[in-house]
Amino acid sequence: MCGIVGYIGQKEANGILIDGLKRMEYRGYDSAGIAVLDKGSIFSLKRVGKVMELAKAQTKFHHHGPIGIGHTRWATHGNVSERNAHPHLSDGNRFAVVHNGIIENYLQIKAFLTEKNYRFTSDTDTETLANLIDYHYQKAPYLSFAEIVRKTLLHIEGTYGIAVMSKIFADEIVVARKSSPLLIGVGEGENIIASDAAAVARYTRCVVYLNDGEIASVRSDNFSITTLHENAVDVIRHELDWEIRDMDLEGYPHYMLKEIVEQPFVIENAMRGRFTADGCSAKFGGISLTPQELRTVDRLLFCACGSAYHACLAGKYLIEKYARIPVDVEYASEFRYRNAPLQRNTLVFVVSQSGETIDTLAALHEAKRRGYTVLGITNVVGSTIARATDAGIYQHAGLEMGVASTKAFASQITILSMLALLLARIHDMDAIAGLQYVQALKSLPAITNEILKLSDPIRMIAEKYYECERFLFLGRQAMYPIALEGALKLKEIAYVHAEAFPTAEMKHGPIALISDETVCLFIATQNELLDKTMNNIQEVKARGGKVIAIVNNDCIAWEVFCDEVLTIPEVHPGINPIVSVIPLQFFAYYIGILRGCDVDRPRNLAKSVTVE
Ligand code: F6R
Repeated sequence: MCGIVGYIGQKEANGILIDGLKRMEYRGYDSAGIAVLDKGSIFSLKRVGKVMELAKAQTKFHHHGPIGIGHTRWATHGNVSERNAHPHLSDGNRFAVVHNGIIENYLQIKAFLTEKNYRFTSDTDTETLANLIDYHYQKAPYLSFAEIVRKTLLHIEGTYGIAVMSKIFADEIVVARKSSPLLIGVGEGENIIASDAAAVARYTRCVVYLNDGEIASVRSDNFSITTLHENAVDVIRHELDWEIRDMDLEGYPHYMLKEIVEQPFVIENAMRGRFTADGCSAKFGGISLTPQELRTVDRLLFCACGSAYHACLAGKYLIEKYARIPVDVEYASEFRYRNAPLQRNTLVFVVSQSGETIDTLAALHEAKRRGYTVLGITNVVGSTIARATDAGIYQHAGLEMGVASTKAFASQITILSMLALLLARIHDMDAIAGLQYVQALKSLPAITNEILKLSDPIRMIAEKYYECERFLFLGRQAMYPIALEGALKLKEIAYVHAEAFPTAEMKHGPIALISDETVCLFIATQNELLDKTMNNIQEVKARGGKVIAIVNNDCIAWEVFCDEVLTIPEVHPGINPIVSVIPLQFFAYYIGILRGCDVDRPRNLAKSVTVE
């Protein structure tokens, strides 16, 4: 979702801005633009569509300079057009603004400024910000750039990450944030600002994240940060923890495929250094709670969105099964507004790959407001959620470039499975069972490597079914969240309608959908209830439906009753969801490719959802 980049230094800004925008393409957008300061004037260039279009147009754009800002827009206010693309210039071209987020009171501000004879050329909320900055400049031209922007922001309701440049203040970019990420990449004689570390990683590994309510004045050789209310800020420098090669395709046709294939390493990284010396339990350095404190936890609450929510749901099944602690899982977007009753000794977890999802962040704040300890599971070191939680666990999955989550999802369930083990060992699980669980987890990289070999057979199945328009995903217990995740992947990547249900729920309604045009994917790796699942499969077959089954034994009945069978290794139930999801990721990937979809940048989707 929308990306911001800005450069101030000694080099030509244009190339660096476009490179930064390309690095953020994975987040999803519909138009892109840059503005540079050249010989005392601001010039902008915008294009609808891919950054590539902007890059092509830039070869004929004859304005250059060592200071500029750029943006990839994901339309909210106003249609997708060059007119509405950022940067937006103030009337008179004194200021240029790029903005992520939503200005909720923009209509009032626009009416006020129209009265003052300001002209508007776009339908966006952002243009009001550019003109309001100009208005405050005109009122008090003696103020510093940062003070003018600060005064403006005090009138803004809503969310923003902004970067502002000016022909009046030609050696400075001012940035500020409220609920929308922004960071400063600190270089030698240059600074790069961005909403995503991917845009700065080629130039520096040292980043400073802005917190909500902070404003920074950035020059080529220094920067200063204060709060909007002019209080001093402790500047913390972070070292980026992922590799530049995470951003490259390394010979793969798509990031999604690359990231599916990376899962054995990613799972290994999630577990590295996180088993106890006796080999019977897990430990997390980031969780500051002692076993005594963990014992007092009566209930867990997980808040997350999308795939992360599915990972939490899988975690619920595992934690309840092994640790016998009740677990609630809430969509963060619901939790933030619904005033859910919470038991006293509830430990809250927020789970977010990006660490920037606005609903998850809001759920975090809501739980903290109510006095609960909130722990985080996130992939991005230094992200807003990582900084706002009381403590937490990093996924160490590396940068996930594909918009649809794959490797980050696998690493989240791995961590949640380890959490189930840790809590179980504190409660009732004996050392032998703990040892077996640990051994199962340690076997995951090798087993997932085996499952990757199913890529070709899955592609062949996808070739048979890719034109189908109706898919049902069915799984029992911990496989139900995996069914949900499989259906979500297919929807996102291939734009096919897919639904997921607990297997036995099929006969309570969804069975009405079954015809010879329906494909049912059974995740039948939950061996305790195999006979029941077999009955459900027969119910589908009796109505002409097609059955694809993911199984983990060589029972003869699979071949008899199912149209397609994919066999994966039988594993410890604590790691079963992790291994069962991989075939579904491949399936969505190949169906998407066969239907001609842009699997890395699915339409309408954004990598991290930073607006409500
Ligand atoms: C699905 C997907 C989304 C995210 C969701 C939460 O493939 O990627 O559903 O899982 O937007 O994002 P994070 O985990 O960054 O909070």
